[in-house]
Amino acid sequence: MASRQLSAALRLRGALSVPGDKSISHRAVMFNAIAEGKAEITHFLPGADCLSTIACFRAMGVHIEQHADRVVVHGVGLRGLKEPQDVLDCGNSGTTLRLMTGLLAGIDGMYAVLTGDASLRSRPQRRIVDPLRSLGATLDGREHGALAPLSVRGATLHGGRYELMIASAQVKSALLLAVLSGDGVMAVTGRTDGRDHTERMLAGMGIDIQTRGAVVTLTPPVHPVFPYALSMRVPGDPSSAAFWWVAAAIHPNAEITTMGVGMNPTRIGALDVLRAMGARVTVQNVRNEGSEPVADVTVASSTLKGTTIQGAIIPALIDEIPVLAVAAAMATGETRIADAAELKAKETDRISTVVNALRAMGVRVEPMADGMVIQGRGQLDGAKVDSHGDHRLAMAWAVAALVARGEMRIAGSEAVDVSYPDFWRDIATISEQG
Ligand code: S3P
Repeated sequence: MASRQLSAALRLRGALSVPGDKSISHRAVMFNAIAEGKAEITHFLPGADCLSTIACFRAMGVHIEQHADRVVVHGVGLRGLKEPQDVLDCGNSGTTLRLMTGLLAGIDGMYAVLTGDASLRSRPQRRIVDPLRSLGATLDGREHGALAPLSVRGATLHGGRYELMIASAQVKSALLLAVLSGDGVMAVTGRTDGRDHTERMLAGMGIDIQTRGAVVTLTPPVHPVFPYALSMRVPGDPSSAAFWWVAAAIHPNAEITTMGVGMNPTRIGALDVLRAMGARVTVQNVRNEGSEPVADVTVASSTLKGTTIQGAIIPALIDEIPVLAVAAAMATGETRIADAAELKAKETDRISTVVNALRAMGVRVEPMADGMVIQGRGQLDGAKVDSHGDHRLAMAWAVAALVARGEMRIAGSEAVDVSYPDFWRDIATISEQG
């Protein structure tokens, strides 16, 4: 296990092109793998999670070329995936496991077993297994389907209606993908307010997918030209850019621009929260890349005050909570994070891992069942902290180190490879040391 020592930076300056969006990179490979034709994906995220997705589709007979951030997918069509000869290893990636389980559950004749690393094997899977079973899918797994490895026996599904009780884009996507090769309409209702990249991309590939209010419906294509291959440039990941947004906001001598970042409204709750805390944010050059809006975002040194983060905005910033917690600790006043019990279902239990690390940095913070309450202190102490194998924790603690008094020692620093392999290079690029 690698570890890194970091100390405060004198100045933060620069412009960065953050890596491609993780959620969109996964979907670009998955959906083009089952599309008709060849697609070229640029600014793909070559992080470990998305490489797991590529490996899984190669194991099902899809020819995929990958050189750094350029990927060419030779689609095999909706009926073209081959049964994998071995267990599919999804690594650390919940998106790979959950979306593929949905997709494969709807392919007649398919049999697959999906597993992953220790973290993924401990994450809850009933959230996909129960709704997919309600459509008639045949799935199993450890503890009656609660935990991976999961086994999938594919069959033609006939659609149906399912009300989501948690705002999970992975579950929403798994249900929609399950009927792609089926013969009936799927309607997902309830908490469909998670990220909508699946809806946007499938619509761009000619699939009949509609969102009316909170109801998302997908009608399986009858014509074999659908879905058609879709070449694209993947937008920069707002979840990766958020580390630089917070770093610039909390540092007394900073101005950082993140270029070409995805501005999908289901993803940028962190920007709204930072603005509400008093951050100096400028959004420029708003444009569309494929089916997603992008922009250049500049954040400069700010005086932050505590805030309340709860309710409808939570799904739009759920992955950014570890680094927003660092911003809250550097603010004045109290920050309350609620309605975020989903934090416990991430790569680590991000309520306890965040609370413990902030305490080690000298912050007063209390965990709650669905969030935490942070007493802003305006300063952080260097400490020994651990990523616990969670990429977003490693990067949040690195951001804290840029302003901490004393050295920060981050164990498990290699976890950044999951979503931001060049993170340590980029932090060196923008930091000027004394
Ligand atoms: C993702 C959805 C979110 C997010 C994860 C990626 C996706 O998870 O936390 O990093 O690509 O659909 P949930 O669907 O569990 O909310």
